[in-house]
Amino acid sequence: MPLDTSFPIPVARSVADLRKIVFGWRRAGERVALVPTMGALHAGHLSLSEAARAQANRVVVSIFVNPTQFAPNEDFERYPRNLGSDIEKLARQGFVGLVYAPTAAEMYPNGFSTAIRVAGVSEGLESAARPHFFGGVATVVAKLFMQAQPDVAIFGEKDYQQLLVIRRLVRDLDIPVEIVAAPTLREHDGLAMSSRNAYLTAPERKIAGFLNTVLGEVAAAVAGGKSPSEACNTGRARLLKLGFAAVDYLEVRDADSLDPIEMLNEPARVLAAVRLGGTRLIDNAPVLPKAD
Ligand code: PAJ
Repeated sequence: MPLDTSFPIPVARSVADLRKIVFGWRRAGERVALVPTMGALHAGHLSLSEAARAQANRVVVSIFVNPTQFAPNEDFERYPRNLGSDIEKLARQGFVGLVYAPTAAEMYPNGFSTAIRVAGVSEGLESAARPHFFGGVATVVAKLFMQAQPDVAIFGEKDYQQLLVIRRLVRDLDIPVEIVAAPTLREHDGLAMSSRNAYLTAPERKIAGFLNTVLGEVAAAVAGGKSPSEACNTGRARLLKLGFAAVDYLEVRDADSLDPIEMLNEPARVLAAVRLGGTRLIDNAPVLPKAD
């Protein structure tokens, strides 16, 4: 497949084209950063490519709506796709050197039979509602790393459990890529930017901002000495009262292992998934021990 040069940034559609460019850079001694995305790019994604630029002299952004991380009843079909405007946004940044937008057939050739399962950190939380999810993510991210062989890759703290799954994956499989975490970009009312926010109706959008507020309250309560389970019970009741339709989970976990905690001894994280109409939102916040 020829390299697509009809966009303001070169777009590789095949592994061969991707490698031709990236391996050329690496042979010239340049450091390459990869930012994996599923497109529908917002300012949060663009902050990841900014972070990538600080880490390397060449930045590659991948755009691929990965079918294996969606269950049949999920939003794979309606997930927003707009490659042209995504590429324009990246071009305006002025430093993204390559977009990798593989076809589904390139990623999953006929007969594709391999799956990667990361145990431990991938269990519970997101996996309770989406048992297929981290298998799909780990497999596609491992493929992206093999395909591009970047020196460094950037992931958002917005998807905190995903970030830890990726860290475990590269450690366990000795994939020679450095994983860098980037902070969550938020709207003015605190709502974490997400491609799925586009699904929210106007009244839902107003309620959505309170998720971050409640996470902050739970984090502050735990930091102030309240037991995590008590703080989460209060937080869950608050969310439902504020108009969220359901709380899939609201939990305080160890920030590195995601093990449940009963007391705050080590750095912790409060993580939540909620439903608002037909939309599922996730977010998380650090539990910052009180400075005395
Ligand atoms: P996607 O949801 O497109 O997110 C791509 C990257 O952007 C992830 O690392 C995510 O954590 C980060 N991100 C999303 N919203 C953000 C925000 N508001 N601020 C900062 N970073 C944000 O996550 C995926 O795609 C996929 O699972 C993927 C890793 C690409 C595998 O298919």
